[in-house]
Amino acid sequence: MSYVETACRIAREAGALIKERLSGEFEVETKSSEFDVVTEIDKESERLIRESILKAYPGHAILGEEESFLDKDGLADRLSGGAAIPYLWVVDPIDGTSNYVKRIPGFTVSIALFSYGQPICGAIYDPMRDELFSAEKGGGAFLNGAPIRVSATDRLAASVVSTGFPSNRDMRAAVFESLQAIGEGCRTIRALGSAALHLAYVAAGKLEAFWEYGLNCWDMGAGVVIIQEAGGRATDTGGQPYSLQTRHIAASNGAIHDSLLGRLHRAD
Ligand code: IPD
Ligand code: CA
Repeated sequence: MSYVETACRIAREAGALIKERLSGEFEVETKSSEFDVVTEIDKESERLIRESILKAYPGHAILGEEESFLDKDGLADRLSGGAAIPYLWVVDPIDGTSNYVKRIPGFTVSIALFSYGQPICGAIYDPMRDELFSAEKGGGAFLNGAPIRVSATDRLAASVVSTGFPSNRDMRAAVFESLQAIGEGCRTIRALGSAALHLAYVAAGKLEAFWEYGLNCWDMGAGVVIIQEAGGRATDTGGQPYSLQTRHIAASNGAIHDSLLGRLHRAD
């Protein structure tokens, strides 16, 4: 089984678990602030993904969102060390936990494989719509096995773009600043509540672009490689190449990337 096939299999398994557990009661806690929520299902899903990855690839490294929170102070070192790691799996067991808690569709499982700081394979699974987005470097991008491609729209004024509202107050303020600059120039804006889902939708041509401040590698890694393989572009909001350490993302169909960056620059 290839890396991407393994990522897809595990994303489907975790997706089935979170979908099934949605109908019951579960515990919800806050993490870094009152805006930042986690459920016991996030942790359960992460355990399942970790065990499955280690079973398939006992020698590979893993970084999971929930496990990383237990050692917040060590995260920066782990990320900079990632540039030297040949196989590092980066896992978001539920991306869009706020949607999950409110039983709003629009949450995903996101699994990426990084090699020396760059994502080389990714799977994003939306269990409520049974949509699995995937890619492996050099092999194209797919939705439920069928090839996908970014949209050809080349004007921001004809573009549907998307963003999110981070739990960190400073990052959220940065999004508010940029909303003005982008909102004046695009057709409309969506905020669907899962960064990974936004990125998958850019890859599939449903959205022209996505930007957000203060994200982490588990929100973006899989989506970035899927967009690249679908013919799009992902950089940081300053236009620098994407890496494991990127926090502020600008991702697009490529054709409107410079317009997006120009307006983000103005907002900065
Ligand atoms: C969040 C989602 C959301 C984004 C937040 C992320 P989580 O991830 O991707 O769309 O706006 O910034 O933190 O916490 O649900 O995994
Ligand atoms: Ca999460």
